[in-house]
Amino acid sequence: MSDSATPQLHPIKLGPLETLRLIRKSYRDPLGHAQELHARFGNAVMQKVGRYTFVNLYGADAHRLALVNEGQVFSNKQAWDLIIGRIFPNGLMLRDGDDHRYHRRLMQAGFKSPAMQRYMLAMEPQVRAAVGQWPVDTGKPLLAYPTFKAMTLDLAASIFLGMELGEEATRINAAFETAVAASMPKIPLAIPGTLLWRGIRARKYMVDYFRQLLPAKRGADGTDMFSLLCNATDEEGNRYTDQEVIDHMIFLMMAAHDTTTSTLTSMTYALARHPQWQQRLYDEIASLGGEHLRYADLERMEMTEWVMKEALRMYPPLSTLPKYSTTAFEFEGQTIPAGAMVATYPIHTHYMPQYWSDPTTFDPERFSQARAEHKNHAYCWVPFSGGAHMCIGLHFAIMQIKLVMFEMLRSYRWSVPKGYAMPVQQSPISKPRDDLPVYLEARR
Ligand code: HEM
Repeated sequence: MSDSATPQLHPIKLGPLETLRLIRKSYRDPLGHAQELHARFGNAVMQKVGRYTFVNLYGADAHRLALVNEGQVFSNKQAWDLIIGRIFPNGLMLRDGDDHRYHRRLMQAGFKSPAMQRYMLAMEPQVRAAVGQWPVDTGKPLLAYPTFKAMTLDLAASIFLGMELGEEATRINAAFETAVAASMPKIPLAIPGTLLWRGIRARKYMVDYFRQLLPAKRGADGTDMFSLLCNATDEEGNRYTDQEVIDHMIFLMMAAHDTTTSTLTSMTYALARHPQWQQRLYDEIASLGGEHLRYADLERMEMTEWVMKEALRMYPPLSTLPKYSTTAFEFEGQTIPAGAMVATYPIHTHYMPQYWSDPTTFDPERFSQARAEHKNHAYCWVPFSGGAHMCIGLHFAIMQIKLVMFEMLRSYRWSVPKGYAMPVQQSPISKPRDDLPVYLEARR
């Protein structure tokens, strides 16, 4: 990858107080942190903390390098194992190379068009029922974030696992919530009472539960994601083992629900702040001419998709994409060593003025065909990552988001008080610190 004439990238030298300030800033304000380091040190920044080497790479070219991953320089497994490997071992994102390719090919069975159409038919009445129950004109706000979280978890239980909503689904959802909360614990110790300890127990509960469901799913013709993964085969007749199906299902539920919840929340906020866009989207769904959203309507929700893309630009659920360098590599004329945690920053690239006009302004039309700012560079808009690990659930997410937006727009107008600005916690997943209180008014 590198030749001896290429200069080494040297670690930046900062005093302990400065280091502490920057570490705190990286948790509290990943965008501000990335912008500060980028402005001070350029597109590649290396830091040594004890025996660990951290490298931050900024800009769309950095994303191209890390995501295209020519020569398999970067390992997803070694990076993500360190972060969420205790609770979500062997998920698709935590695999590399041929092993990843094999697992991803089999998983496609759960994401083909006929499967997607069936998921949509199953989700539609559930979304309508859930959104229809929201309190209107009470003078009290709805907390958007936990409301979407509960909805996407219930949808995951029924669409992914084929469960009827009820006590069992509630128990699984609770175990799942504990596992997710524990996946990036502040205290990484699994001793009785700690979050990590509870997370490991919650994972075990889910593993046991899924294992006991497996025999009935194998060979039956169920249409939930669990059944499809149980029965997926490749051209050589290979199939997932029981443990592989279980690991994939637990990871899929996590990958699907927090990200979609985050996106729905930021769209709801943006539309509350920009009622003219809320009206435009209402006009768009009204023009579809049906009481129920059909699969064929999805691609006609063009403006809804711009709003979703703009929300994902401004508030990408994953602000950072971690990789691990297995060999030394070159970036912009400098050699970066093997054995480093290498992070690229969608949130930073999404605000770079060389790709985006007036990047701090909410402006969904930047995604229109006429302007297409996201095409200024193939890797300047990367909320779903890219390359071999690009989100496999992208179309599922878009479908679910459009379905929820359709139901919200046809039922309500929503607002936030004048002057309200959503306090965003960008890491580990973008979410509002105050759960986003919104005021609903019935449309009819
Ligand atoms: C708006 C919603 C979503 C966003 C923003 C999102 C974002 C991402 C990102 C950034 C990655 C790649 C991380 C990397 O490069 O290491 C990823 C991977 C993945 N996502 Fe999503 N995701 C979303 C929804 C979903 C849904 C709904 C599902 C499942 C139904 C899903 C399943 C997965 C899986 C299985 C992977 C691993 C892919 C691989 O490694 O080959 N995601 N997602």
